Amino acid sequence: MTKKRVLTGYRPTGHAHLGHWFGNMLNMLEMQEDYEAFYFVADWHALTSDWQDTHAIRQYTEEMVLDWLAAGIDPAKATIYRQSDVPEVAELTMYLSMVTPMSWLERVPSYKEQREQIGEKDLGNVGFFLYPLLQGADITIVRGDVVPVGEDQLPHLELTREVVRRFNNQYGELLPEPAALIAEKGARVPGTDGRKMSKSYGNAIFLSDSEDETSAKVMGMITDPARKLKSDPGNPDICPLQEIHKLVGDPSEIAEWDRCCRVAECGCVAHKRKLVEDLNGYLAPFRERRAALAVEPGVAWEVLAEGAARVRPVVEELMRDVRRAMHVDAGA
Ligand code: TRP
Repeated sequence: MTKKRVLTGYRPTGHAHLGHWFGNMLNMLEMQEDYEAFYFVADWHALTSDWQDTHAIRQYTEEMVLDWLAAGIDPAKATIYRQSDVPEVAELTMYLSMVTPMSWLERVPSYKEQREQIGEKDLGNVGFFLYPLLQGADITIVRGDVVPVGEDQLPHLELTREVVRRFNNQYGELLPEPAALIAEKGARVPGTDGRKMSKSYGNAIFLSDSEDETSAKVMGMITDPARKLKSDPGNPDICPLQEIHKLVGDPSEIAEWDRCCRVAECGCVAHKRKLVEDLNGYLAPFRERRAALAVEPGVAWEVLAEGAARVRPVVEELMRDVRRAMHVDAGA
């Protein structure tokens, strides 16, 4: 029985934090067992929005691979590669662009939203406009069946499916229509200020933070804002501290913190100290592996080279068919 193919990629934007861990990495760990997994570093995607400052992309690519390896993503099971090591992705993007009306790209919601909201970056470039199509090429170039994504990426998947249908109508049934898989677990991890955890909000706890850094961040977290004094009863349902604790703590202890908060028997400072202890305990094995990997020179690049070699035959076979169907090969 052949396994289905899962494909997912992330932009290299820095160290992984708890939001990545619970939102994607645990899911990637599970999926490498049941699927033929393709996990790639989307460095070209980082270029589309950060073309004015590209100096950190290579370093972040390496960091991302090391984070994946330390998490237990296994290059013997999953093919780990870098987007730019497969230049045919750009070629396929161009072919897909032939069958894509401009209006389809113009109506992708993330396009308008991000252009409006991200004021500090110049997103008027064609590369950014084209980016959902680049994503479509990432997926179809390895004939990905399943793509785990967050809500915000659903329109990109829908666009990919429409483009694939149009391409197949024109040139023959060559590309599979990928299915989106919405991850149900840990979709949203709160940051230290209660908003969604994100590097750009400055509210992230990184997996590779030291125990002291973790402690300082947790001790500065917001809790129920209405609970001013320890003698005020609190509401753990709106407490980001409790939300993170639920992800890493012992369930019966979590239930007890919930109870004693509601009746003002325990204070937030004690709860924070306990979360520091639990979080550092939870992350210790990851941090040990991550530190060991960081001193081994070149591991990440070896993994990426091996992954690129593995993805190559898959890509070459597909591109041969695509070029032939479009009559841009050498002919019979
Ligand atoms: N668009 C995704 C992001 O911004 C990254 C991405 C690029 C991706 N190509 C992909 C995700 C293919 C899934 C499949 O995070």
